[in-house]
Order: sequence, then C-alpha cells, then structure tokens
Amino acid sequence: MPTKATKRSPRVKPGHREEETLRVLISHQRIRERVRHMAQEIRRDFPNEPIHLVGVLKGSVLFLADLARELGGEVSFDFISVSSYGKGMDSTGEVKMNKDLDVTIEGRSVLVVEDILDTGLTLKYLLLLFEERKPKHLRVAVLLDKVERRIADVKADYTGFVIPNEFVVGYGLDYDERYRNLPDVCIVRLGPRGKTKIEA
Ligand code: XMP
Ligand code: MG
Repeated sequence: MPTKATKRSPRVKPGHREEETLRVLISHQRIRERVRHMAQEIRRDFPNEPIHLVGVLKGSVLFLADLARELGGEVSFDFISVSSYGKGMDSTGEVKMNKDLDVTIEGRSVLVVEDILDTGLTLKYLLLLFEERKPKHLRVAVLLDKVERRIADVKADYTGFVIPNEFVVGYGLDYDERYRNLPDVCIVRLGPRGKTKIEA
C-alpha cells in the first residue's frame, strides 16, 4: 500500500534552543566539495605515503572522518584532546592536555587535523609537542580559519575556508557540547537569555 503523503515538518536543527539563532555560513554541499579538493591536494603532496591523521578532539571528528575517506591510500588515525576553551565562547588563553596520543608518531607522515584555527595557541602548543617526537613530516589541515583572530605565529598547510570572526557551530563544532551533529557550519547568535547564560 502506498504511504500517504504527509506534510513536511519544518526542519528543526538538532539541539536548537529558542534563545539561540543559527545562520548557515557554509553548507554541507560546499564542505563536501572543499574537503574532496583538500584531500586531492594532500595526496598530491604525499602520493605514496601512509598518512597518519591526528585529530584534535572533539571538533575535528566529522572533518577527519570525511577527509580520511576522500584521501584513499594508506591512512591511519589517532586522537589527542586538549582544551583551550571554556564552556562558552571565550578562550581561557591556556592549553591543557586531556588525552595524549595512543601510538608514537616518530618517523611517520603526520597530518594534524583541526576543526578551527582561532588565536592559534592550541596549534602552536601541539606543533611544539609533536615536533619533539620526531615525525618524518608534520603538516596541518584545518577546516576553518579565523585569520583576523591570530595571536600565535602559526599557519595551516591546508585550509578549508577562511571565515569572519563569528562563533560557529556544526560539522563537529559545538556550543556547550550542542550542534556538533549539524551538517552545515552555522553562525550562532544569542538572544538576551543566552547572553545571561554565557556571563554566568
Ligand atoms: P585557538 O584560539 O587555540 O582555538 O586557535 C582553537 C580551538 O578553539 C575552539 N574554537 C571554536 N569552537 N566555534 C567553536 O565551536 C568557534 O567559533 C571556535 N573558535 C575557536 C575550537 O575548539 C578550536 O579547536
Ligand atoms: Mg569547542
């Protein structure tokens, strides 16, 4: 029996709260195309090398998963967890290690995979840490780059999109652990109630 056509319910953003407004900055379609091109660029630079992806938890998870599938060839991954951000939108300025890598990176072609480059303090910390461990190559891929916020002298080898200085969520990025499962990258703005929440 054919199913009855039902009225489409409006698309509710996962985890959405009324006091928060979301605006799509980069659609999933654009992300997919860009990630495919980034993977081609990376493979052009390392045609026959096994590539060891080091994802920075948790924001990079979706980006890493898509990038790994587009890369082809021999790919392995590991994860590190550091925190530089509190619960809200403001950086604490310091970087703290929560979980180190599981395996050695010595002699490997390592690609650090980050969701977003902001002040650059997190990446600076990671690069110093990893360089000491003597990888064969050490490169960085970031999905998003807020160039105008940079404090530390670091840059990525592969960049998805340069974005304005707005707080973004989706495609792995969170606000207070929500919105990571949005397929698009969205700008989140807070209403009066949301603001109170951040200041608390
Ligand atoms: P730094 O300042 O060290 O920061 O380059 C990098 C980390 O800060 C987080 N970050 C964000 N997270 N939306 C987020 O969800 C943002 O707009 C944003 N800006 C920075 C992120 O965890 C990144 O790894
Ligand atoms: Mg975060």
